[in-house]
Amino acid sequence: MGSTISFTDFGARIVDWVVDGKSIVLGFDSVEEYMTKDIYTGATIGRTSGRIKEGLVEISGKTVQLEQNERRQNLHGGAENFASKTWNIEIFDGPDFAGIHFDLTSLAGENGYPGNMKIRVTHTFDENGKWTVSYEASSDTDTIFNPTNHVYFNLNGTASQSIDNHRLRLSASHFVPLLDHTQVVRGEISKVGDTAFDFRTEKNLKEALKSDEEQITMVGGIDHPFVLDVPELDIEQARLSLDDLSISVYTDRPAIVIFTANFGDRGVEYRGQRQVHHGGITFETQVSPGSQQIPELGDITLKADQPYQSTTVYQLNKG
Ligand code: GAL
Repeated sequence: MGSTISFTDFGARIVDWVVDGKSIVLGFDSVEEYMTKDIYTGATIGRTSGRIKEGLVEISGKTVQLEQNERRQNLHGGAENFASKTWNIEIFDGPDFAGIHFDLTSLAGENGYPGNMKIRVTHTFDENGKWTVSYEASSDTDTIFNPTNHVYFNLNGTASQSIDNHRLRLSASHFVPLLDHTQVVRGEISKVGDTAFDFRTEKNLKEALKSDEEQITMVGGIDHPFVLDVPELDIEQARLSLDDLSISVYTDRPAIVIFTANFGDRGVEYRGQRQVHHGGITFETQVSPGSQQIPELGDITLKADQPYQSTTVYQLNKG
């Protein structure tokens, strides 16, 4: 269907996805730019995604202090994280797809996390425009693990146009409100009904982004976990559309963090185009951040020698 996709071993990340000559994801042209402009763009995030309040977790009855790299919180696994590692790669293919295994060893104690871990992220892309990300991992000691991918979509084909002209549908009746500017969770799971966060019926993103509800204005847009009603891989969990292009998201994870690139006038240049406020949108599939404060969100414990496996699919649709 006339589309190509590219990855790099730096951060096991997606760099580009070109559909009929148009880049529908954000990416830079060099490692240097990822290091100086935005390390998370398109990257594999880990060991854990999102904010862990004060970097404090309990693992098998023991309190563990993780690196605090954003104010007092641990964000995206610490300052040096999966996104800033060079992964080993192995390329393979099948009759109608190509894939890359990305492998990494993460040593016990790194950023405060227990357990020597082996992590494999596999990206595959098939002839029907289906990008699959799967995660496999194991640890030799009980630890926590909650990776994601931080791809920014912008179906306009440029970071210099807001995604507020896109439509969004989500299979989520609940979201997780944030406390304040620290963006840790407030402590409860809320219904989306009668809020800007209700995307159960497709609506324009502009409608939510221009809302004066406190949860939106507090962070300058959407930067929230959505709790999926039925977190199964064969159910379309999200659909982002613009004109005749759309991306459907499928996942077995219980939540998706949606971040609408609320960078105000701090946007960086992507492929020569300065990113505007809301110049991209992520679908970060994971256990919602805040599971230490709200156990109903799920458990990110990974027991010693227990295999971790999860899968997320981004399907391109045309017409
Ligand atoms: C998102 C997070 C945002 C921001 C971003 C990285 O996952 O929710 O608040 O930190 O990553 O720029």
